[in-house]
Amino acid sequence: MKPNTASKLLIICSMLYLIIGISLGFVTAMKLIWPTIGEIEILTFGRIRSVHTNLVMFGWLLQSGMGLAFFILPKLLHTKLYSEKLGVATCCLFNITTIGSATMIFAGQMKNIEYGEIPIPFDYLTVICWVMFAINIFATVINRNVKYLYVSVWYFIGAVIWTAFVYITGNIITQLPFIAGINQANLTWFYVHNAVGLVFTPMGVAIAYYVIPKTLNTPLYSHKLSLVGFWVIAFVYVWTGAHHMIFGPISYWLQTVAILFSWSLIIPVVAVITNFLGTYIATPKEKRYLGPIAKFMYMGTIFYLLTCLQGPFQSIRTVNIITSKNDWVVGHAHMALLGAFSYFAVGGIYHVLPRIIGRKLYSEKLGDIQFWIMTIASVLFFGILWVSGVLQGYLWHNMNGTFLEILKMMKPYHAIRFVSGGLIIIGFIIFLYNIMETLWGKAQEMKDAEV
Ligand code: HEM
Repeated sequence: MKPNTASKLLIICSMLYLIIGISLGFVTAMKLIWPTIGEIEILTFGRIRSVHTNLVMFGWLLQSGMGLAFFILPKLLHTKLYSEKLGVATCCLFNITTIGSATMIFAGQMKNIEYGEIPIPFDYLTVICWVMFAINIFATVINRNVKYLYVSVWYFIGAVIWTAFVYITGNIITQLPFIAGINQANLTWFYVHNAVGLVFTPMGVAIAYYVIPKTLNTPLYSHKLSLVGFWVIAFVYVWTGAHHMIFGPISYWLQTVAILFSWSLIIPVVAVITNFLGTYIATPKEKRYLGPIAKFMYMGTIFYLLTCLQGPFQSIRTVNIITSKNDWVVGHAHMALLGAFSYFAVGGIYHVLPRIIGRKLYSEKLGDIQFWIMTIASVLFFGILWVSGVLQGYLWHNMNGTFLEILKMMKPYHAIRFVSGGLIIIGFIIFLYNIMETLWGKAQEMKDAEV
């Protein structure tokens, strides 16, 4: 089998789920404005919202991360991927699982866990996929031809181990018969928060640590700092999940522990951001933001910084009382997963796919257009949700207003989210078109040195 077959396949499949997933997000946004649209069972809000989150998180972000890892790791380790065949088999099983779980959710068969709605038999298939993926990653690391491990390798290894225990906790342990009530809620929020912090963060950061220095042609600002960031993330992230239940029915001390650990997350974030921005600053000015890859990685870094500054502030009790359980959190979640990590994935794909097939990106200009449409629309999308979130936060505390009245008042804000979401979809369609033209259209061949 040709080198990088598995990587290419995973990346292409991930892009299909991206388009389907965000289109369902668009329908979900439409339903928040016109709730009676599409009043059939499979299109009820709870179902399409869950298919949206599962497809964009697992079908798109996780799968593209797996594909990029299969390309980046062998490059950094000066070796081949351990087994292309195993990689392709992993991709096939992963896609069967993703399609199967989406179908089941549409049919109303789902678990009571946020981001873990996938029904039970498909959870086990996902775990099998992850074991197959892990074998390929670890065997490639063992077969390496270099002594030292670059920080991206650390993060990929971390992502493999942490994803396993976070996923199993959220999807399988929460379903055990003796896990109920507040214990189940506690484990669920552990899962939800760490799905972002210990699955998508290490994957995204690993990709950025590779792509930023490569695309800027500048050495990484500091290798020592990169390892400080890694080990602090490994230690502090797991303790933060309970900040989703501030003022909830859990012990007060546990809430306080979660708040303290949320603040300590600033340390790894500063380490990562200093490293990324330091590398940008060390690059000659005229080359810093040249082309879509440098732009996507830069803006992804800014979104990552803002998300991780928002997080600790949101955990403070006096702020949390207003910003929790409303649109604010949805804005925060989109800035992390659509803003930071999807931007890293897009930059990564623009860097990696042309090198796999030995052809130049079809159009840098289209990539730039995509970047500007998505960035302007995303800022509007996140910003309007924070505004409506704060309003909801205050209105929930006004005993005179009913839930329905507040929902009606949100219409103009939700309409702006709907329009900006539509623009983001246009941006992603341009991305798909650019990649399709690169793969099968009129893109030029790359010189050997560029590959
Ligand atoms: C790669 C892109 C995207 C990612 C990774 C993503 C991810 C997510 C996540 C994680 C949630 C759950 C948020 C929470 O409960 O805290 C969510 C909900 C939602 N998303 Fe997206 N999303 C993306 C794009 C979009 C787009 C383009 C739209 C179009 C308008 C959209 C509309 C929605 C809506 C309406 C909800 C439900 C919000 C609610 O329950 O109030 N998303 N998305």
